[in-house]
Amino acid sequence: MAMEYSDKVMEHFAHPHNVGVIEDADGVGEVGNAKCGDIMKMYLKIRDGVIEDVKFQTFGCASAIATSSMATDLIKGKPVEDALKLTNQAVVEALDGLPAVKVHCSVLAEQAIKAALADYYKRQGIENEELNARLAQEADHDHGVDEEE
Ligand code: FES
Repeated sequence: MAMEYSDKVMEHFAHPHNVGVIEDADGVGEVGNAKCGDIMKMYLKIRDGVIEDVKFQTFGCASAIATSSMATDLIKGKPVEDALKLTNQAVVEALDGLPAVKVHCSVLAEQAIKAALADYYKRQGIENEELNARLAQEADHDHGVDEEE
């Protein structure tokens, strides 16, 4: 089965933005997909409620790398509240789409950002119950055999 990737996906895969590590990050999140074994790690530097810098490391497929790159572009310089609302659908749209069988890879990018934000809140001593509940729910969901919606 041939897979069609948009030019934007190919561009972000070949030259991903924001790759790397932030040593003194304010929030770090790591998520994985149990099915394919891919792993994504996200680092956030937050000042006055704004995402000043974001970097990622993705050990995964082309779609996971392209979605990490686009997702980090979309939240950089934005308030934390905006990053919390970022959905994988918004990332996929910004990439001009992904093949249906690859949409689950974009979920990893959304979850990695949420996990890093949850870590940020934890370090600040803030309980973001809604975010924690959502992460727990998604972790359960990922445990399933098929996360395609
Ligand atoms: Fe694992 Fe894409 S196949 S994230």
